[in-house]
Amino acid sequence: MTDSLHPETLAVRAGQRRSQFGEHAEALYLTSSFVFDSAAQAAARFSGEEEGMVYARFSNPTVSMMQERLAALECAEACIATASGMSAILSTVMALLKAGDHVVASRSIFGATQQLFGTILPRFGVDTSFVAGSHVEAFRGALRPNTKLMFLETPSNPLTEVFDIAALADIAHAHGALLAVDNCFCTPVLQRPLMLGADLVIHSATKYLDGQGRVLGGAVCGRKALTEEVFKFLRTAGPTISPFNAWVILKGLETLKIRVEAQSAGALELARRLEANPNVARVFYPGLASHPQHTLAMRQQASGGGIVSFEVRGGRAEAWRVVDNCKLLSITANLGDVKTTITHPASTTHGRISAEARAEAGIGEGLLRVAVGLEAVDDIEADLLRGLGRP
Ligand SMILES: Cc1ncc(COP(=O)(O)O)c(C=O)c1O
Repeated sequence: MTDSLHPETLAVRAGQRRSQFGEHAEALYLTSSFVFDSAAQAAARFSGEEEGMVYARFSNPTVSMMQERLAALECAEACIATASGMSAILSTVMALLKAGDHVVASRSIFGATQQLFGTILPRFGVDTSFVAGSHVEAFRGALRPNTKLMFLETPSNPLTEVFDIAALADIAHAHGALLAVDNCFCTPVLQRPLMLGADLVIHSATKYLDGQGRVLGGAVCGRKALTEEVFKFLRTAGPTISPFNAWVILKGLETLKIRVEAQSAGALELARRLEANPNVARVFYPGLASHPQHTLAMRQQASGGGIVSFEVRGGRAEAWRVVDNCKLLSITANLGDVKTTITHPASTTHGRISAEARAEAGIGEGLLRVAVGLEAVDDIEADLLRGLGRP
């Protein structure tokens, strides 16, 4: 049924399984195990001969509903939900890579993802080359004979660099490697990487998919042949999403489109106003004509997204002054919430990476990242201007 339906319809209808009670809203199944009619059925379920629920480390109807709905939105054959965005990334690499393999990753990825690739995976024989900037030739140049995976975020966090998914997919595929895209910033509402040639889409569902800052969750979407490997890892290792969190995210998906479109419209307006402020040295927002990859962004995204980063003149002291004068905006590193959040990346999300790596990634001491929520733009701007000064 899903092929002919629009995304907004899929967001509220796809994946729903009704129980014998005929509930209208999706049910939350809080149970760690499932019962069988007979010993023979138990055996058939465990072996996979018979489809059905077994044990909540790897099967739960609420989780299945969330997976199917997100898969429909990402135009993916299948989706595997995980406990968090980081466990989605960990499960992907554990499922698809082995000792001796090599990864080419963008330098501009989330701090914990950099730590995973840069410090944890090498202990298991998987090395990563980090590529600075978004030039596709730099990614081609970093390939080695044993490169099996290319990994990026677009737009990146926090500088909103945009990466050409279609071109990078071609480069990865010509080399026999897979392309995985962290689609956390855009969500399927604004960008569908699988349609542009990527093999896997990763989500921190903690962000826009939940949308109201309540629960952690993650997901890996792609071809069944790939997600099946991720499932096998999850079944054995257990980085499983709780049914409650899956239920919150499932219901969050229903309002994803209207939230993300409104947040993106608010972010564009805020970005324009910040660009006109003399105390702001630079604004990073893909929806602005001044963004270096504006044309590419408008080709592969429906709009600029909800994240605006900007460089305050005067470095860390002035940036912290803006943060400390906020009375409305929440000082927190989370993003994708309906409540606007502000963070100073150099001392929070990217504080654990070395100063050299931060400098190489272009994350300056005056940089602030605002994840625009659903408040009036006038109120968000007024809160920032308290510390920033009026134009
Ligand atoms: C782009 C991006 N990817 C992945 C993650 C990790 O997700 P989680 O916190 O759900 O583990 C984050 C978290 O901030 C993120 O911003």
